[in-house]
Amino acid sequence: MGVRFRPGVERMAAYVPGEQPRRGGVIKLNTNENPYPPSPRVAEAIAAELAGGGASLRLYPDPEAYGLRLAAGEVYGFDPDRILCGNGSDELLAMIARAFLGEGGKAVFPYPTYSLYSTICEIQGASAAACEYPRDFRFPEALFSARGDVLFLCNPNSPSGSFILQRDVEKLARSFDGLVVVDEAYAEFAGSDCLDLARRMENVVAIRSFSKSHSLAGLRLGLLFGPERIVAGLRKVKDSYNLDRLTLAAGEAAVKDVEWMKANVAKIRATRSRLISRLRAIGLETLDSAANFVMTRLPGDRARKAYEFLKSRNILVRYFDSRLLHDALRITVGTDAETDAMLAAMEEFLEGEGVA
Ligand SMILES: Cc1ncc(COP(=O)(O)O)c(C=O)c1O
Repeated sequence: MGVRFRPGVERMAAYVPGEQPRRGGVIKLNTNENPYPPSPRVAEAIAAELAGGGASLRLYPDPEAYGLRLAAGEVYGFDPDRILCGNGSDELLAMIARAFLGEGGKAVFPYPTYSLYSTICEIQGASAAACEYPRDFRFPEALFSARGDVLFLCNPNSPSGSFILQRDVEKLARSFDGLVVVDEAYAEFAGSDCLDLARRMENVVAIRSFSKSHSLAGLRLGLLFGPERIVAGLRKVKDSYNLDRLTLAAGEAAVKDVEWMKANVAKIRATRSRLISRLRAIGLETLDSAANFVMTRLPGDRARKAYEFLKSRNILVRYFDSRLLHDALRITVGTDAETDAMLAAMEEFLEGEGVA
């Protein structure tokens, strides 16, 4: 007897999110946040919800997020019954694991990718089988013969920024027996997506995040699009009041202001092109990116050293102490000024290396 965790939980390591500094003055390019503010309609909607001294906060929020689903349905061309709202897209991923992956279940995903997929499998006691991306992150053909209950496909992928075309995802969904989850946290930066597959296919869901393109990482909101049967089943495992009143109001305002979001995405894409060219110009092997970050390589232990050097200059980028990623840094696309400051510090690091 005694207080015991389930054995899998006892054994597992916790998911490690990117560092969130507690002090100001840091150029933060480590967790793919948007450097531009959200639509001004977001603050207006929150202020309206708080009118009357916040009297509405006495009452529970709408457990079905109806207004938000209706607005999202119009923007994305989806029946609201085929949309599920989550407290961040992370919560939607956890709901999928809860609903589809029990003890003995099996998830599949290409590696390296978003590391939360393996954490949510471990929590459930399910196994996770990874098939490796090649070094250039082209589509791994081995996925076509993968078997399992759930296939997680991060597209664009993190940390590589690589993108898999819809026709390949469709072929994959036809060859896979279970549920295909296309994690589209970064899709707005790619300019192309798999929503149409979530509309047409029985075994595909697509997940969107408001943390990146809509500049709302601090609010916690994600959307899932998929077949009605799957959305209805996932609702059974959802916490009743998973989104609070302020998030519902703000999310509805944000999703409707497509122009604002697109203008920010366009600025970020322009900075991304410049960032990739400059990294290559200073001699760093850098992948093309369809997301709001880029992956660049510094062989040996130079990636970790560069990360530490940048950190000493109050610039945070992401270094992953994990297999196949020791020689890589993932750098979020910031404003032009932030990006230039990071590039200047990186050049200083490389020059220092030359002298050493
Ligand atoms: C691929 C991927 N999916 C999901 C998330 C989580 O997003 P959210 O903030 O909506 O929970 C992230 C966050 O970095 C991500 O990189």
